[in-house]
Amino acid sequence: MNVHPCSKSLCHLISLQTQAWAAAMGFAIAGALGLSARLTPRAGSRLSASSSLLLLYLSTSSLLAHAASPRAPSYQSQRTPFSPPTCPVNNSTCPVGSGIRSFHSSPQNWSGNAQFSYHVAASYSAKGHNFNAERNIFTRDVFNPIKSSITDVKKCKNIKNKRKRPKSGQDAFFFSQVGTTQTTAFGVADGVGGWVESGVDPADFSHGLCEYMACAARIWPQGAKTNSLHPKDLLQVGYDEVIADKSIVGGGSTACLAVAEPDGNVEVANLGDSGFMHLGLNAVRHFTHPQTHAFNTPYQLSKTPERMLVQMKVFGGTSALSDLPKESNVTHHRVRHGDVLIFATDGVWDNLSPQDALSIVSRSMVDLGAWVENKGALEVGPELQTLTQAVREGKADTASLQARLAIAIAKEAKETSLNTRRDGPFAKEVQKYYPGENWHGGKPDDIAAVVAVVVENTAS
Ligand SMILES: *[C@@H]1O[C@H](CO)[C@@H](O)[C@H](O)[C@H]1NC(C)=O
Ligand SMILES: *[C@@H]1O[C@H](CO)[C@@H](O)[C@H](O)[C@H]1NC(C)=O
Ligand SMILES: *[C@@H]1O[C@H](CO)[C@@H](O)[C@H](O)[C@H]1NC(C)=O
Ligand SMILES: *[C@@H]1O[C@H](CO)[C@@H](O)[C@H](O)[C@H]1NC(C)=O
Repeated sequence: MNVHPCSKSLCHLISLQTQAWAAAMGFAIAGALGLSARLTPRAGSRLSASSSLLLLYLSTSSLLAHAASPRAPSYQSQRTPFSPPTCPVNNSTCPVGSGIRSFHSSPQNWSGNAQFSYHVAASYSAKGHNFNAERNIFTRDVFNPIKSSITDVKKCKNIKNKRKRPKSGQDAFFFSQVGTTQTTAFGVADGVGGWVESGVDPADFSHGLCEYMACAARIWPQGAKTNSLHPKDLLQVGYDEVIADKSIVGGGSTACLAVAEPDGNVEVANLGDSGFMHLGLNAVRHFTHPQTHAFNTPYQLSKTPERMLVQMKVFGGTSALSDLPKESNVTHHRVRHGDVLIFATDGVWDNLSPQDALSIVSRSMVDLGAWVENKGALEVGPELQTLTQAVREGKADTASLQARLAIAIAKEAKETSLNTRRDGPFAKEVQKYYPGENWHGGKPDDIAAVVAVVVENTAS
């Protein structure tokens, strides 16, 4: 078997042909796909044979086709050592095992002691679509009291009109107030392609997951099993609902989400290669490391269409093909006035380095007067609160600080993704792992970025 990387276009061709072949044969042999031999389970067990069937179906939106970048399903047998998340740049703000008090995550009622509020907006762009700063933006006042009396997560999800989903491709995002508390939940999910031939909309899983998580947060504590809400719990609820939802035939998704509390504690759960960045005054405080099984094969939740489960049973596979919400990495963070939190899919992080994101945010914050220079030092400007509240009635609004930050990030990620000369983080990874590929420039992909600006309310 050819185990060398094929050229991009050739890879794609081989991938298509082999998919057709595998579909016809009903199964595939691990290692038949050149480079993918390195990415598929090691030995030719029966499980790996049926797994690689899935691998074929799931290989991917990526330009490198299956070879260098299958966003493929995962296997218990193929865990690679995981590098723990980095500490923040400044040790004294390190949340990992540094003795900072533990996160309690009991959403607090609205009351006079609420201190921190999170002002959230999202911007996005589907692969192959133009970026439109006026339209590709999503804002909502997360502090509006709940208008609806719905208390069931399924009913809540069902009123969300599928056609009104943001046109963010397979990337999805959400943000929501938690119940009637001042706690806010938000995050992103990146759908894994595949099963298109089976009539499955690959966006259904990630968008469905986000809609369920938004609903579960909004109706909290209705239907909740615990009296505290952690992001992992929210992800579990979303995942369980997606699995139970017959209208979502199959698919897969990464997820990265937060529950942010009015006392300034933020808990983050990350599964896969979407990521989170915590920025303070011109500094990167934290950046999550992606969880991957192999190069560009992220951890992911998944649901296998029943038809394929039947096939797999015939060929002796077990259903150990999905990672689970409990495997997400959890980190705790303390925020400060004027901090910025970014949750984004790999369409952003494959094209922007943490330094790129920091300079985009710093530039916008300084330009808009949210961070100001005072005697040679940077500090939070007095207008921060006002800048986050430039909300017009009704329609999506691009004037608020958080909207402008989200747009700036999505726009720059989009431009870089289409630039064939400027090497982004993805190109650098490919060059490192597959020097023969001669990959340059950005990586076109769906893009979604959720930005939260942290405001500490002064006692009044
Ligand atoms: C690290 O953070 C602490 C606490 O905010 C601050 O006092 C200190 O100056 C910071 N150190 C550096 C090197 O930024
Ligand atoms: C951060 O902590 C690590 C481990 O304690 C130490 O090796 C490193 O020098 C520290 N870095 C800074 C910038 O203080
Ligand atoms: C929040 O408010 C609700 C309704 O007013 C009340 O039942 C509940 O006990 C309160 N929870 C906390 C933590 O104060
Ligand atoms: C991150 O998650 C993976 C998968 O669950 C686990 O193996 C790893 O130990 C976690 N790392 C940390 C630092 O929690």
